[in-house]
Amino acid sequence: MKKKRYTVTSALPYANGPLHIGHISGAYLPADIYVRYLKGKGHDVAFICGSDEHGAAITLQAKKENISPQEIVDKFHDLNKKSFEKFGINFSIYHRTSSKLHHETAQEIFSGLEKENIFTKKTTDQFYDTQHNQFLADRYIFGECPKCGYEHAYGDQCEKCGSALNPEELINPKSTLSGNTPILKETTHWYLPMNQHEEWLRTWVEKGELDGEKHHDPKLWRSQVLGQCKSWINSGLKERAMTRDLDWGVRVPIEDNEKKVLYVWLDAPIGYISATKKWAKENNKDWRDFWKNEETELVHFIGKDNIVFHCIIFPIILKCSKNYILPNNVPANEFLNLEGKKLSTSRDWAIWLHEFIVDFPNQEDSLRYALCATAPENKDTDFTWSDFQARNNNELVAIFGNFINRVVVLTNKYWNGTVPKCNSISSNDMELIEEIKTYPDMIGKSIEKFRFKQALNELMNLARVGNKYLAENEPWKLFKEDHQRTETIMNISLQIAASLAILSEPFMPFTSNKLKNLLNIDNCSWNDAGKQIIKNNHQVNPPVHLFHKIEDEKITEQLNKLKL
Ligand code: MF3
Ligand code: ZN
Repeated sequence: MKKKRYTVTSALPYANGPLHIGHISGAYLPADIYVRYLKGKGHDVAFICGSDEHGAAITLQAKKENISPQEIVDKFHDLNKKSFEKFGINFSIYHRTSSKLHHETAQEIFSGLEKENIFTKKTTDQFYDTQHNQFLADRYIFGECPKCGYEHAYGDQCEKCGSALNPEELINPKSTLSGNTPILKETTHWYLPMNQHEEWLRTWVEKGELDGEKHHDPKLWRSQVLGQCKSWINSGLKERAMTRDLDWGVRVPIEDNEKKVLYVWLDAPIGYISATKKWAKENNKDWRDFWKNEETELVHFIGKDNIVFHCIIFPIILKCSKNYILPNNVPANEFLNLEGKKLSTSRDWAIWLHEFIVDFPNQEDSLRYALCATAPENKDTDFTWSDFQARNNNELVAIFGNFINRVVVLTNKYWNGTVPKCNSISSNDMELIEEIKTYPDMIGKSIEKFRFKQALNELMNLARVGNKYLAENEPWKLFKEDHQRTETIMNISLQIAASLAILSEPFMPFTSNKLKNLLNIDNCSWNDAGKQIIKNNHQVNPPVHLFHKIEDEKITEQLNKLKL
């Protein structure tokens, strides 16, 4: 197998609030599964993330709470970084866009584009709040959405229908700072004329071709991602301002612009590059290998509200900055709801990651499992506490855990933990052995196609195969009559257990680790799975439970928390 290099990014979460299950299921868990798998196959991967610390939402919140934006981002950067770690999301680096390195990187890219005349500079009238003496961009203005009529659409985007907007398009605009109707005042900004890039973007998105060459396979892109891109391009790309009149953010690196900063959606994706620079420096790597080498695959994991930024705006920036690679895939997820309603930070309708970790200690994998099993890969899906409980109790405990437990208990009971020989293989066993060999590739192929749900189901099928084998052969009964057969059955079951230990790693890394310790197999990689992994006379450890049943009271507590 050819080893490849990958740059995998997860959307940088805004550092103005904690993470909830919607974030995790959208952009972080699938990316982590993908990266763990790639590493298991021996590929060279940079897994990049960090805090998005600029943007009007953060300055607005700071104003409301009467503290500095820096205080807010410091607090949530630390909290979110820790939550990711505890949850086993294994980034190569979790960087910050408020860092000096990031500011310099973003400014350098801006200056490069400015020099190449990629931007157009224009003076226009913009909304201004006379009470606060401030220009109002994006989120500082709200009004009625011209497309769907939603009354609280923001100046950059309507959260109801997803349309991208310009503040001037809002009907009956109001300032979020004072609630007043803003006046118009002259100001100068740098714009990205996206319309000039329509042609190559269309070919790139629809055919997967770039500069006359094959770039990626558009069939591997999710249909909703392709659909959104095509609809954007077909309705005609417009220009968009790449700078803002704000004092929090990356300064526009041109003299006399001390009150202008880069548009947060220009600055944040560049955060992937600055984070890679930092990581590379600390790990003796060259960041250019991960951004400027055509053989490197770039994959962005995001939620559906980020599609245009990662499939249109950032690719334009990368292409115009010369020698940068473009994403090979942007596997965006749809949204996850909670108990039938849209997750909402402001309405506190969420399951917060940092709270889950406290409420369900050492059960991170159960949530990882449930979130992967219900992932909104092609349509919005719903997380419910009862489904979480059922998946834990009826699948993880009753299928996966039960199989492992029976295998390890019997091996300890009959052979003191020493792996018995495999020397009376039946034709049924042979068939089974052949079947087991197909699992690593089958699961791997699903992961490579970004079908994580399907991959997880296939993993569970392997546990089901193991359970069925035990149930059909009943080694606990056979032990007295046919010792040799019993040994063989247990040996084969142990091989299945070992494969499960390896193949579960991307999805449930803590469980995989426990299981590897239990079976005493530390140095196994993906390519060993499906084979005779455990040798005769190998010693396994005394049984421990991999999963724990979740009782009704625990679930009721959580439902009470949601006031259900
Ligand atoms: N902070 C943005 C959000 O939560 C995502 C930024 S992704 C990046 O929607 F590409 F800009 F980094
Ligand atoms: Zn709308």
